Amino acid sequence: MKRIMLVAGVAVALTLVAAVADAQVKKGKTRPATTKQLMGGIVQPHCAAIGEAVKQAPADDAAWEKVATHAAVLNEISYTLMDDGRCPDADWANASTILRTASDAVLVKALAKDHAGVAAEFAKLTESCGTCHKAHKK
Ligand code: HEC
Repeated sequence: MKRIMLVAGVAVALTLVAAVADAQVKKGKTRPATTKQLMGGIVQPHCAAIGEAVKQAPADDAAWEKVATHAAVLNEISYTLMDDGRCPDADWANASTILRTASDAVLVKALAKDHAGVAAEFAKLTESCGTCHKAHKK
């Protein structure tokens, strides 16, 4: 029994090592979108839109709703960044977690129409960009 557990443990460890070795920074394993496209097409525009709302407070309910939408999209992309064998290491995972947590917080503050709150959480959100880029953007 012990021996079987040991063999199973080694198999799991080898699978984990293989998963890390196979990780793709520039593109996932099976889906066509490159990291560059996800950044330029999704992350950058939605991040910039929240940045605009930080500079100039949303004027009405519809504008606040748009801020919440931008935050919700960034929250979803934090999952995509971890899918399809993209994640190479702890720096990437950590940056994705920061993006996920902070975008969720921006979303909550936007729904509460709390401008100072959105600004504070947005500052945390942008830490995710630097954290990942420092390690992985060549
Ligand atoms: C988990 C990792 C990760 C996170 C988080 C991340 N990026 Fe990136 N980003 C990358 C990588 C890797 C590249 C380089 C992609 C390449 O050129 O192949 C990149 C490239 C970019 C580019 C250049 C795209 C181009 O067309 O060359 C922009 C703009 C960008 N990121 C914006 C952001 C912003 C804004 C944030 C934060 C809201 C962010 N990124 C968060 C990994 C990340």
